[in-house]
Amino acid sequence: MAANATTWVFISMVKLLSLCFIFGRVAGSQSNDMWRPAHATFYGDMNGTETMQGACGYGDLFKQGYGLETTALSTALFNDGLTCGACFQIRCYNDRQWCLNETIVVTATNFCPPNYSKPEENWCNPPLRHFDLSQPMFRKIAIYEAGIVPVIYMRVPCVKTGGIMFEIKGNQWWLMVLVYNVAGAGDVVDVKIKGSSTDWIQMSRNWGQNWQTSAILTGQSLSFQVTTSDGRMVESDDVAPADWTFGGVYEGKQF
Ligand SMILES: *[C@@H]1O[C@H](CO)[C@@H](O)[C@H](O)[C@H]1NC(C)=O
Ligand SMILES: *[C@@H]1O[C@H](CO)[C@@H](O)[C@H](O)[C@H]1NC(C)=O
Ligand SMILES: *[C@@H]1O[C@H](CO)[C@@H](O)[C@H](O)[C@H]1NC(C)=O
Repeated sequence: MAANATTWVFISMVKLLSLCFIFGRVAGSQSNDMWRPAHATFYGDMNGTETMQGACGYGDLFKQGYGLETTALSTALFNDGLTCGACFQIRCYNDRQWCLNETIVVTATNFCPPNYSKPEENWCNPPLRHFDLSQPMFRKIAIYEAGIVPVIYMRVPCVKTGGIMFEIKGNQWWLMVLVYNVAGAGDVVDVKIKGSSTDWIQMSRNWGQNWQTSAILTGQSLSFQVTTSDGRMVESDDVAPADWTFGGVYEGKQF
């Protein structure tokens, strides 16, 4: 009996240690090419109606090439909007009852806000790493009824069709440019703009992936330098012709 108990304790400890080892491997690295643990839920319906717009400043996600392959990020992952546009590979992890055997790749297009007055199910509060997926994406990795599942995730390069897109907003005195459809690292950390008769002008981030300047560039063709979080920069010269318009969308080069 005692021997059996000792054996049982020993086996349990071995199991626990190997679990710690696996979890440690998953959790231990900040590197982009390691799986890390998080959780995932979903929001919106199967059509993605509620996943449109959102805190990254993107608009119609279908027209902009993101489709339903999107996620909202908790505070710990959102980085105040700088992570918008980054791509994540995600799979359900270690839950035999609810996990499906599929890996998805999604782009961060929204923010999952914390709720500090919620005593439970406050998945998006810091420091939790949480993906609030579009419902179709959640249903690829887990059974719908699970509601929430443990996942592992990894940053992956974004694969996009066509060039980086620049949507010009604002007015005569204030230029705001939404930068989207960015391949590679995907998350833009710096944008510079140049009119045909100016030098490069540093833009500041307004919100999400909307970048602004008070420089008046009406009537000049526009060039952009876009830098992503991996330090790579792509310059697109004369993306918008001199007769560009507010509301116009212009296509540049791609990473
Ligand atoms: C979503 O799509 C389904 C099936 O096409 C449709 O029945 C439903 O009305 C749609 N919902 C919305 C909100 O568009
Ligand atoms: C899950 O996927 C892995 C790797 O793709 C495969 O080896 C395994 O057989 C799959 N398991 C099930 C239950 O489909
Ligand atoms: C936060 O959680 C509380 C308690 O569950 C709830 O009443 C409230 O509506 C939530 N706030 C938001 C903004 O969701």
